[in-house]
Amino acid sequence: MKILVTGGAGYIGSHTVLSLLNNGYEVVVYDNLCNSSEVSLQRVQQLAGNTVEFVQGDIQDKSALTALFKQYPIDAVIHFAALKAVGESTQLPLAYYQNNVHGTLCLLEAMQVANVHQFIFSSSATVYGEENAVPYVETMTLGTPSSPYGASKVMVERVMADVALANAQFKGVSLRYFNPIGAHPSGQIGEDPKGIPNNLLPYVAQVAVGKRDKLNIFGGDYPTADGSCERDYLHVMDLADGHVAALDWLIKNEQFTGVEAFNLGTGTPVSVFAIVNAFEQATGKTIAYDVAPRRAGDLPAFWADANKAKIQLNWHASRTLQQMMEDTWNWQSNNPNGFDS
Ligand SMILES: NC(=O)c1ccc[n+]([C@@H]2O[C@H](COP(=O)([O-])OP(=O)(O)OC[C@H]3O[C@@H](n4cnc5c(N)ncnc54)[C@H](O)[C@@H]3O)[C@@H](O)[C@H]2O)c1
Repeated sequence: MKILVTGGAGYIGSHTVLSLLNNGYEVVVYDNLCNSSEVSLQRVQQLAGNTVEFVQGDIQDKSALTALFKQYPIDAVIHFAALKAVGESTQLPLAYYQNNVHGTLCLLEAMQVANVHQFIFSSSATVYGEENAVPYVETMTLGTPSSPYGASKVMVERVMADVALANAQFKGVSLRYFNPIGAHPSGQIGEDPKGIPNNLLPYVAQVAVGKRDKLNIFGGDYPTADGSCERDYLHVMDLADGHVAALDWLIKNEQFTGVEAFNLGTGTPVSVFAIVNAFEQATGKTIAYDVAPRRAGDLPAFWADANKAKIQLNWHASRTLQQMMEDTWNWQSNNPNGFDS
């Protein structure tokens, strides 16, 4: 089976491409490299002992997508390509809606023309918005995220639901990720943010390697056990395996049409202070930090109800917090400047 992976050179995409290859799928990656490097795919091929077809292009380029679907007999699409910085999205809302929403419309149109109907979308826990209670369950109504980034994910989920109503062949899966961290245990691929990292773990790792002076912990007075925010962190290799499980499920369930959403998380919240402690213990490094004021839009705590994926996809996040920390450090210390190292 040939799988088109948009955004496959990026952080989650590259780990997922590796899992797909290791599970016997053939992969075509389509990526404009706006937030990634082709080196990630070279490393994936070395790790897998197998090849990946790579086409550089933008998901908003309809003629390039049409040509892509003509060139390759694609069975299913996993769609990672998106801009993902929550803070930046409040500064550049049009760029985020353009890339994440319009780009997805172009992709879905090209799929329709090419008669490809199996679609797995990178959604996010942010679609539950501020109004739903924790833990988040898939049966909850989509919420109102506080950022254009989050809103773009809600919009695409709505688009998928409408496409499924209009097209009886459409088989869609929306995977709502919680907080992926870590790297492949080889230390060959990992998260390589451009500029100042937006996410906690890359920032912690860059402090540890001496690239940044100290970590800012945003808010120490939340109504949580230790006052810092709590999130549901999962190992990126578990997340990658979750995509393979979802794809297997989609292909096996020949009768299924419509859209199904699955949370991909551990089901356990972990605080920012606990992450810093775990990183220090796993690596022997000391992380200097300041407790800074809260950031607008941050929720005190959220985590997944992870039962649906466990029951229906036979998937659960099995890697420990210690593995997440060790693998992050292995990647960062071997590649202090990411793929440019
Ligand atoms: N990392 C997280 O914490 C997280 C959490 C929830 C959801 N997600 C979603 O998962 C997906 C992957 O995230 P990631 O962390 O791997 O990000 P990433 O930036 O590492 O990967 C995204 C990839 O998409 C590519 N891309 C972006 N716009 C494109 C376009 N117009 N055309 C072609 N390629 C394009 C980028 O070059 C990059 O390789 C995104 O959709 C993101 O919103 C990520």
